[in-house]
Amino acid sequence: HSLNTFHVAARAPRLLRVRDVAALPEALAAVAPSPLLVLGSGSNVLLAADPEGTVLCFDNREITILEHRADHAVVHAGAGVVWHELVMWSLAEGLSGLENLALIPGTVGAAPIQNIGAYGAQVGEFIHLVEAWDTLHAQWVQLDQEACRFGYRDSLFKHEPDRYLITAVQLRLPLLHELRLDYAGIREELQAMGVELPVAADVANAVIAIRRRKLPDPDVLGNAGSFFKNPMLPREQAELLSRQHPALPVFPGDDEGNRKLSAAWMIQACGWKGRREGDAGVSPDHALVLVNHGNASGAELLAFARRISASVLETFGVPIEPEPRLVGARW
Ligand code: FAD
Ligand code: EPU
Repeated sequence: HSLNTFHVAARAPRLLRVRDVAALPEALAAVAPSPLLVLGSGSNVLLAADPEGTVLCFDNREITILEHRADHAVVHAGAGVVWHELVMWSLAEGLSGLENLALIPGTVGAAPIQNIGAYGAQVGEFIHLVEAWDTLHAQWVQLDQEACRFGYRDSLFKHEPDRYLITAVQLRLPLLHELRLDYAGIREELQAMGVELPVAADVANAVIAIRRRKLPDPDVLGNAGSFFKNPMLPREQAELLSRQHPALPVFPGDDEGNRKLSAAWMIQACGWKGRREGDAGVSPDHALVLVNHGNASGAELLAFARRISASVLETFGVPIEPEPRLVGARW
């Protein structure tokens, strides 16, 4: 219940907490051959059934500076560190880069999995090395930025689920860099705050204020942030849809010329925003956020999500896919 931000009730046969990562292989051997599910804060999972086997949580919460140069520093953070605490710590140390990623829930260990991103930045840009235990070859590995194959809400780790147990992340953070203020709302927020010449910490404060207004707090209303990814379409197809629906927001996509469409807009246009069926619903504040009003089960939330995606497909011809990891179900 408390290990997932949807606050869905579920029970695993075993919970393993690891603080000393050097002892991880031994701890794993003791629970083998039970299947493993790593959970950080559970802010990007939908437990559609009880997890089988062992739930593994990392409790290593140290942050250290490995290297301090004139223009950057390399920071080492344990998988169990709360992401937002790392962001605030880095800004207090005079390091920048993570300001647009303030207030994203979850742990450092989970950040590379979906390459967390918000307000024009993605964590992959700042990742130097990911330290992990490779369960396939039973060995310690360090994966550099290229090896992680980061994309929009995507990485190597998503394609080989549960192979790599991420124990720590090394980030390369600049002392000074060009602030990203172009994402809708940041400049306006800074202006409202009375900030004329922003520094990185001001951008973090602006992002925090916007997020608090737009996204429901999981402690008050269970949710996992965006439930669907924004779909990517080839440019011609996106332009065609955009001519048919001129108000549909289209964002720059990837390097292959694809465009990203706003799933929130399409879901709202289909009439789902704020709708509730039993205890499953869509947030009245953000159409992309599925919420648990109380006692919805994971299976009920998933069935509700399927109806949303079917109606978007019917209306716009665009398939949308869930962002959270589904446990005990396939999409
Ligand atoms: P979990 O949900 O516990 O796990 C997520 C996945 O990662 C699972 O597959 C799990 O097995 C795996 N995993 C976790 N830790 C490890 C590890 N150490 N080693 C290997 N695998 C691991 N995301 C964004 O990108 N941008 C946003 O703006 C954003 N906003 C959000 C707002 C709200 C209100 C909420 C609730 C969520 C939001 N999210 C956002 C999603 C979520 O915060 C991120 O995906 C976050 O990285 C999940 O961290 P976690 O520790 O909760 O991971
Ligand atoms: N919109 C609507 N209705 C709504 C909400 C939004 O039509 O209810 C439209 C508006 O036109 C708005 C546009 O969608 O301008 C974009 O909205 P927003 O800025 O909230 O961004 P998003 O595309 O819905 C993405 C991420 C968020 C991230 C924000 C900010 C995905 C799937 N989601 O949402 O990440 O915080 O951008 O960068 O890419 C998450 O992954 O869990 C998450 C919250």
